[in-house]
Amino acid sequence: MRKIYIEQWPDALQTNGGTILDAALKAGVPYPHQCRSGECGECKTRLLSGEVQQHPCMTEALSSDDRENNYILACRCRPKSDISISWQTNGVSNIFPRREIEGTVHSIDRVSRSVVRLLIRCEGEAMDFAAGQYLRLQIADLPARSYSMANVPGSKTIELHIALLKDGRVSNFVANNLCLGDSASIEGPFGFCNFQADELGPIIAAAGGTGLAPIISIVTEALKREPSREVHLYHGARDEADIYAGNKLTWLANQYEYLNVQTVLSQPSQSTSRRTGFVHHAIESDFTCMADASVYAAGPPVMVEAIKTVCVSKGVSENQIHSDSFFTEQNPSSVKKVSAGKKIANLLMFRKQEQAY
Ligand code: FES
Repeated sequence: MRKIYIEQWPDALQTNGGTILDAALKAGVPYPHQCRSGECGECKTRLLSGEVQQHPCMTEALSSDDRENNYILACRCRPKSDISISWQTNGVSNIFPRREIEGTVHSIDRVSRSVVRLLIRCEGEAMDFAAGQYLRLQIADLPARSYSMANVPGSKTIELHIALLKDGRVSNFVANNLCLGDSASIEGPFGFCNFQADELGPIIAAAGGTGLAPIISIVTEALKREPSREVHLYHGARDEADIYAGNKLTWLANQYEYLNVQTVLSQPSQSTSRRTGFVHHAIESDFTCMADASVYAAGPPVMVEAIKTVCVSKGVSENQIHSDSFFTEQNPSSVKKVSAGKKIANLLMFRKQEQAY
């Protein structure tokens, strides 16, 4: 049994072989993290004393300079001795304590070619979370998967958008075998791409595929608080058959005068009256200066990075860009190249996976 002392946390943690991040989350510590697979760098941590075993990770998340300066990734490290550490990012101030909740399946709807909408009714109290956060869902004997809440905080019914994967054990089970009334275990909330009530300018909210779930939650929460807020919501999907939540978005646009919804198809299979191309190009052409805007982006990493680049070039402060990249769980034996030589781990299973961008 090893002890973990965290500079920002009063109590020492104990671990018996898992990663630092696993131990921290299990103890209810709101440890900064996102992908849990060594790709995003959100869990970058300074090792103050002790020894760890660092498992492979992306150099974009932990550079050789970082390693030389005693930085580690909490999601990819196991303590080899008692250790003292300090996390390096700040996004923990409005995070609610992690809880485990039992629930039952309330509704299952295939809402597009590639998405199932799942409603889970919580037993006991509703889960506290900030709009934009995600949970871990465990059903049947299957491994847990992460999905963002599409509802706003306060409801005992949790809405999740499950992207269907060709070989996805969990998503296929949800689509084909899960039944109304089945049990579902929920753990959460997690994540730092959440609505920031103290940022008061216009909102640019961009979603790729099921990234729409946290974006709907954030936009709905923002407009509930300030109905006259200027909000531009972009939803990127591959083709017409992948679009979903149209009724919900239309309803929101009818409720709120200053909400502008744009659907953008990246690979339309036939002629369409919708916008086509990529979401970041749509944003780029729609705005000249975005200096006072807050940006929320959720979806595939390549989409999120492109949107960040465009928004920074239009004057948005990096502090006001909040993103949730839907990373994949790592299959170290198979790594594929994506744009500009940047590696993204190939996948066996996705976290809130995306294929639509
Ligand atoms: S959570 Fe550790 S690198 Fe993403």
